[in-house]
Amino acid sequence: MKQNTVVTLAAMKVRGEKISQLTCYDYTTACLMDQAGVNMVLVGDSLGMTMQGYADTLPVTLEEMILYGRSVARGCRQAFVVVDMPFMSYQVSPQQALANAGRIMQETGADAVKLEGGRGIQEQIRAITGAGIPVCAHIGMTPQSYHAFGGFKVQGKGEDGAAALLADALAVQAAGAFAVVLECVPPKLAALVTRKLDIITIGIGAGAGCDGQVLVWQDMLGLNGDKVPKFVRCFAPVGQTMTQAFRAYDREVKAGAFPAVSETYAQSDCGDDVLARLEQNNAAFPAAVV
Ligand code: KIV
Repeated sequence: MKQNTVVTLAAMKVRGEKISQLTCYDYTTACLMDQAGVNMVLVGDSLGMTMQGYADTLPVTLEEMILYGRSVARGCRQAFVVVDMPFMSYQVSPQQALANAGRIMQETGADAVKLEGGRGIQEQIRAITGAGIPVCAHIGMTPQSYHAFGGFKVQGKGEDGAAALLADALAVQAAGAFAVVLECVPPKLAALVTRKLDIITIGIGAGAGCDGQVLVWQDMLGLNGDKVPKFVRCFAPVGQTMTQAFRAYDREVKAGAFPAVSETYAQSDCGDDVLARLEQNNAAFPAAVV
């Protein structure tokens, strides 16, 4: 069993220990996050934007989530892996949700699935958790519904908005979710929801009062330049370092400075005399090769 499970994550909340989570979409990065001790890794459908260049997450398919999810799960020995259910893979019915959650678990090796929505997807969460599959819910600003919100906007505003968000949080807990992501929620409301719930809350743009935090990894390494939301912190300017490295490579290749002798395999043992003959004519080759 992994070091991070639904049981150990719940115990962290009880002890007041914060939980770290990052998005991840490939094996190499998953290995690095896993070795760094990150508790949870999320194969988010944000990969539609970060890995595929779409403007939103709506075009991402179940097959794509399975492909990326499988690579990430292979890299995580200790980190708990959550794979997003993409748009229209669970909204239709509880039966559809269960069948697709089952495919994600069987075909990726993930530890849980994530669904966007609150009161409206209680039946889906019940169906999935009833089959023994852990569910992380996602409320507040849910990107798959951004058309309905009129854009990527902070949710839970005003008395009605706050009451609706709390009702969603309580609904997903009652349906059996082990965790809930709170995205773009006012920080005092997120802290209140966190106190009210027994299950863990993971915040993104929801302040420091949540049980854990998640960020998109390209954002937290500065790969997207300044085009990031207010809540993102750049933990290392890796984007700049990569651009410098790409420029240096381009320069050195064009100048003939790469590869150096030390970066080249030893000369073949056929000898300089043979090479000299080959340069003059093809006679040294057996007829079949010529
Ligand atoms: O898809 C995603 O990356 C997410 C996080 C932003 C929470 O859902």
